[in-house]
Amino acid sequence: MRLDFPPKHTEKIGSVSIHELQKIYEIDSGKSPSLNGHQSIKAFGYDELSSILRELAIVIPVKNEKLGLLEGVLSGIPNECLVIIVSNSKRAPDDRFSMELEMVKQYSRFADKKIMVINQKDKDLGKIFKKVNYTSILDSKGQVRNGKAEGMIIGILLAKMQLKKYVGFIDSDNYFPGAVNEYVKIFAAGFGMASTPYSNIRISWKSKPKIVDNTLVFPKWGRISEYSNKYLNDLISNITGTKSEIISTGNAGEHALSMALADNLNYSSGYSVEPYELIDILEKFGGLLPSNFAGIIKKGVEIFQIETRNPHLHEEKGNDHLTGMLQDSLLAINNSKICNMELTKVIKDHLLMLQVKSKSNGTNTDNDNKKYHHIMKPIKSIPIETFAEMILSNCKTLNMI
Ligand code: GDD
Repeated sequence: MRLDFPPKHTEKIGSVSIHELQKIYEIDSGKSPSLNGHQSIKAFGYDELSSILRELAIVIPVKNEKLGLLEGVLSGIPNECLVIIVSNSKRAPDDRFSMELEMVKQYSRFADKKIMVINQKDKDLGKIFKKVNYTSILDSKGQVRNGKAEGMIIGILLAKMQLKKYVGFIDSDNYFPGAVNEYVKIFAAGFGMASTPYSNIRISWKSKPKIVDNTLVFPKWGRISEYSNKYLNDLISNITGTKSEIISTGNAGEHALSMALADNLNYSSGYSVEPYELIDILEKFGGLLPSNFAGIIKKGVEIFQIETRNPHLHEEKGNDHLTGMLQDSLLAINNSKICNMELTKVIKDHLLMLQVKSKSNGTNTDNDNKKYHHIMKPIKSIPIETFAEMILSNCKTLNMI
């Protein structure tokens, strides 16, 4: 993979370096790429990428998706990576989770991949989280809460159990296995460029194709990213005092974390997890609030944003889903202690408008009166060996294939 390096511009906030969007020139640069004297390019050959991929686990959160799509996603993940499927798919009346498991087992008769599968609602998993005192992930019945972020946390812990240095997240409803393959290689290239153990790699899609009036169009931004990027940039502009447009991955569903960083972050529930990841990094390491992370602050945190060459095509889940997701994302920004009053007012007005709109559509949802988002604790509080022992001997839905 050949891409811009060093990034053309970096916004520095305390010990956090946010790099501008980097462009890819070759998805595949061969075995031993040459730079031909270029000073502003980095190229990764097969062996270099392969050794990073071996330390990377890819978590696929799944909830009731088409089996064919999930199988396609699996086929796109490079062979060196450990794959971790965390499923919140229903068990009754039809058992979607068992169907997924059966599909993975059949797929594995032909493919040569290491795959772990677990069900998010496994009762024993809930009990284990209670035992290790990680209750912020539990609902009132003592089971793991619903939500993509909750699935991600389980995935991070399984990756940590397997001693992985990096963890990346790929949605299970992607139509293009080739795009999945590019995302994972981008994660590896990002970690290969990082100069600190604490890094976050965020993917910006080249385009998100859709059909408008019988014509295929390739818009760059979806409806959520447009706003969350804008508000995150307003927040950063306010901090630095200079107009900034550095953030282009506010809602990057495909993103990756070094385990050292993943260990220390708080996680916001459901779909607000991606914008909150940025907020949490700035709150903890941006020098804006009192912080007890001196060790990390000394080494610095790097955020890479990299643009794909492939378009992103996934399942469309409808307008209500998008409105809920936008509300969650705006709340994550608005509720931050580093969000200034002026921006808070603008976001509150936007949230109000969304509530009015969803009510007038007759789509009165749970989100309508939501004022807070649920935050989960950093996973470093969990004794990983104990967790691993308990999960391996108790969780009946855990399968290692
Ligand atoms: N384990 C688990 N648990 N997975 C879930 C859950 C859950 O409760 N809910 C959803 N998922 C899975 C889905 O099956 C899919 O693989 C992935 O999480 C993303 O969910 P979607 O419902 O498909 O989200 P989206 O496509 O609308 O939004 C995606 O893109 C946004 C950016 O445009 C997500 O990745 C968002 O997080 C992202 O902000």
